[in-house]
Amino acid sequence: MEDKKNILDFQKIQLSTNKYLSRGLTNNFNIKWEKANDEFIFVEGLNEKVIDFTAGILVNCLGYNNQLLKHNINKLLENGIIHSYHYQTSFKEKYLESLYNFTADSFINPKLYLTSSGTEATESCMKIMLRHGQNFSPKKNKILSIEGNYHGRTMGAALMGTGGLFNEVWPNIYNSFPKIKFPYLWEVKEEQGEDFFHNELRNLEPEKLETICGIIIETYQGWGACSYPKSFIKAVKKYCKQNNIILAFDEMQAGFYRTGLRFGFQHYEIKPDIICIGKGMGAGLPLSGLAGNSEIMQLALPGELSSTHSCNPISCVAGNTVIEIMESEEFKNNITENAALFTKLGNDLKNKFEFIQKKSNFMGMVGALVFDLSDNEKSIEYANKFCEIALTKGVLVIKTGRESVKLSPPLTIRKESIEEAFKHFEYILNLFC
Ligand SMILES: Cc1ncc(COP(=O)(O)O)c(C=O)c1O
Repeated sequence: MEDKKNILDFQKIQLSTNKYLSRGLTNNFNIKWEKANDEFIFVEGLNEKVIDFTAGILVNCLGYNNQLLKHNINKLLENGIIHSYHYQTSFKEKYLESLYNFTADSFINPKLYLTSSGTEATESCMKIMLRHGQNFSPKKNKILSIEGNYHGRTMGAALMGTGGLFNEVWPNIYNSFPKIKFPYLWEVKEEQGEDFFHNELRNLEPEKLETICGIIIETYQGWGACSYPKSFIKAVKKYCKQNNIILAFDEMQAGFYRTGLRFGFQHYEIKPDIICIGKGMGAGLPLSGLAGNSEIMQLALPGELSSTHSCNPISCVAGNTVIEIMESEEFKNNITENAALFTKLGNDLKNKFEFIQKKSNFMGMVGALVFDLSDNEKSIEYANKFCEIALTKGVLVIKTGRESVKLSPPLTIRKESIEEAFKHFEYILNLFC
């Protein structure tokens, strides 16, 4: 294979934005994007265009410079309304109708709510679950979540997630939110999923169980694209039904065909009561929200879910374009083929190298190479090194900061680019042997 001459010294690059931005917002990589087209990014200092295997952070599902998206946004700009608060516009009308139809197979008479960031969506979901609890008893004020899952950085979302500042500063509040262990597929077999869930519940104090009004599940755990045994999710669903608990899926990453299906929960053959959606939903514009069974979504009191940029016209136009494209036969055929190819090449790759075989995961158009060396520090070092070499070879991948490398190209990527990227990955992994 031709060796590309994209040589960069990442340590030496000084990005001007670092002068202004808080270090709380760190760059994923010390590089500057100059422009982008389809699945390619042009990076300052690199001779060759780079294949994007990040989609930003699973956001740019249609790639870059999508002509229909550009056309529709330009039309909106000509119209003049770039913000309309909670006044109705034709853009809002059109999008809500499309999103209703897009979710109509999943929910009973779906009701929707729109926000701009994922954390706002999960936090709003938390509110709805708490309202549900309060309708029964003031004691029902906790959400059960899963260790290691991520739902955002605002306080409510973080209480359902793992660790961080809130955990340190208010351990009593954080610890009062019950959590159970994640059933990693390399530890829990399909036939053990149900028992695993019930054992985890038994490990919680019985008084805590009585406080649960909702359970939130990240459709797959982000850093490693880790999915669950189907039997585990089915047991959660059954438990929720029997105990009048709302089941929420955080589909921020998994929704909108990232896993090859419209929504990721479909892989588990259950239906949640409500989903949190975002990322790919807006193809790069800030758009997120909730969709759920009408009965559940109507638990929110009037005004309780308001947000300044809810149903922002530009985001609605982008969201509508995403659905228009995703509903086309061309997209549906292409995503099925792309997902099959991506998953096959991913699984072939992991089976060739012992040190990534056990824990790597591929599901539709998302995957993670998880390094499993004897020493976790070394696994993290290899993962970071992999990301740097991949970029010099012409592929941008997601550096997770952990022992994994995340792979999530635009859904519309050409097959040749998928194949080219995986050839580079094999070359890099061989360097580690
Ligand atoms: C599963 C999941 N939930 C919630 C969020 C938070 O979304 P945002 O960063 O848009 O607030 C993310 C973001 O990475 C996510 O992956």
